[in-house]
Amino acid sequence: MPMNASNVYQFQPGGFADHRTPLIMNCWYVAATSREVSRNIISRRLLGTDVALYRTLGGEAIAVRNRCPHRSFPLAKGRLEGDTLICGYHGMQFDPSGRCSHMPSMPITPHNASVRSFPVVERGPLVWIWMGEADLADASQIPNTHWLDDPAWTSVSGAFHMKSDYVSMHENLLDQTHFPFLHPGAIGTPEFARSKLTVRQEGDVIIIDRELKNSPPPGVYAMPTGLTGKPVHRYSEARFASPALHTAFAKIVDPHPPTGAQAEFRFNITHAFTPESHGSIHYWWFNSRNFKLDDQDSDVFLHTASAKAYLEDVDALEWIWEVVQSDNQPQFDLNFAPDKPGLLMRRVIHERAAAEAGVSL
Ligand code: FES
Repeated sequence: MPMNASNVYQFQPGGFADHRTPLIMNCWYVAATSREVSRNIISRRLLGTDVALYRTLGGEAIAVRNRCPHRSFPLAKGRLEGDTLICGYHGMQFDPSGRCSHMPSMPITPHNASVRSFPVVERGPLVWIWMGEADLADASQIPNTHWLDDPAWTSVSGAFHMKSDYVSMHENLLDQTHFPFLHPGAIGTPEFARSKLTVRQEGDVIIIDRELKNSPPPGVYAMPTGLTGKPVHRYSEARFASPALHTAFAKIVDPHPPTGAQAEFRFNITHAFTPESHGSIHYWWFNSRNFKLDDQDSDVFLHTASAKAYLEDVDALEWIWEVVQSDNQPQFDLNFAPDKPGLLMRRVIHERAAAEAGVSL
């Protein structure tokens, strides 16, 4: 399906986004981690467009379309000279704003020629990019992930490239009833799946709150807190923060801590998704905690446990994607009451995509 083919996709009033819905363009997405962007130019397809990423000598992250406006040579295959990006085919030169600063074969520099550059903002370990209407880029809309850049927190992290759609991936994270089945013993317990949840919507943000008291923590929280098997209170929030970001906060409280021992432990989980295209996603995750900051055993445990759990999600979503793509019999997926958060998210994406396509519902 062509990228954002709103001319063939039919928006229905009251509809819900699915894997066919045109991608949301007016949104800040993660383009890369800060470590990935350096003086070595890299290329990455984001929202269907090839982007070249590099840093200036001053350290500023730059993103431009990875396609020379002369003969489409991929600019990431060119080179940097100072802050100038030089095409590897005929040597056309571009400054960090994308404007042509020299064309060797021309006696006069064609200053009106340019390659599209994209607004970029770096926050902690994430490089955010805006690929929508340039006039609408507003850095204050980037969701808060302060714990990724706060000395009171530490994080382990990983990344996947997966064949699925970001709507289904967001729904997976808003759907906590799958935890004890897809991730048995790790992040879910049957008691947690049955615990009461509240769902609220604040603008385009969907928030789920859950509370479970006097129940042993699941495996991923048990080891780092040292509370294996002990009844604890567990408070959690899962948040569809934007089409690009899902966050999950967990607070584990030991109601009867030994004298002088820590009673409250926090975990913040960050999931950033950027569609590469319809049907493939760049996915970065971070598992952050505000205790045992220098404990390498906790780092190793949390990294291993998180990577395993998220791989289980990736596998599940890729299997679903395969079925959806290969089975051509029509199906209307059933919905049950616990699916409400995912449906609210699908409605938000549907309405935003329709607005971007100029369709009034
Ligand atoms: Fe880049 Fe010709 S293709 S200068």
